[in-house]
Amino acid sequence: MHDKHQEFFDALAVEWDLMFTAEDFERLQHIVEGLGIKPGMDILDLGCGTGILFDMLRRIVGGDGSVTGVDFSFKMAQRAHRNFPFANVNVVDTDAIDLPFADSSFDMAVAFSAFPHFSNQRRAVDEVHRVVKDGAACYVIHLESSREINKVHQRIGGAVEHDEIPPEGTLREMFNSNKFADVKIIDHPGLFLLSAVSSK
Ligand SMILES: C[S@@+](CC[C@H](N)C(=O)[O-])C[C@H]1O[C@@H](n2cnc3c(N)ncnc32)[C@H](O)[C@@H]1O
Repeated sequence: MHDKHQEFFDALAVEWDLMFTAEDFERLQHIVEGLGIKPGMDILDLGCGTGILFDMLRRIVGGDGSVTGVDFSFKMAQRAHRNFPFANVNVVDTDAIDLPFADSSFDMAVAFSAFPHFSNQRRAVDEVHRVVKDGAACYVIHLESSREINKVHQRIGGAVEHDEIPPEGTLREMFNSNKFADVKIIDHPGLFLLSAVSSK
């Protein structure tokens, strides 16, 4: 299947890395450092794009851990693969709502700037719950508030016009009904950070 979202992101892949400023990297680095990542962890990066988080993650998890990026845009996944030919980095071209991983495979899951684009967010959350271990922390991260993100997508229009971070109540219900505990949401100008702990 090749839908309009895949086409949209395929078209952006070549220039995607140019979108990030040094300030973005610094802010991201700060956020990543606060996620509680430890050497040896196996981390899932959903909607990884060209692998913007890979270097930060792979340096912390080290050779005994791994970073697995998932993206359903072939061109994004291809660039991520090309950008990071390291033994502890894997890239899989697949949909977040149908993950080709065994139950309880990962110690942590992150989705940076990707969650609003998932066609079926509930199913993606359900899949994440399935493939992470009991007690694994899962994060939805953006460098803007939900309000800012949703407005940007409306302004861009086309395939992403209706892609949004749902209201807090919907998000809490989505994660709680998928058996996550300790759901916390920070949502203010310049940052959206949802954290939840998988409970099995
Ligand atoms: C805004 S980009 C963010 C990419 C990367 N995380 C970054 O911040 O540079 C969103 C990414 O999510 C991917 N994506 C959207 N829906 C997806 C899905 N259902 N399954 C896997 N990837 C998806 C897109 O192909 C795109 O690469």
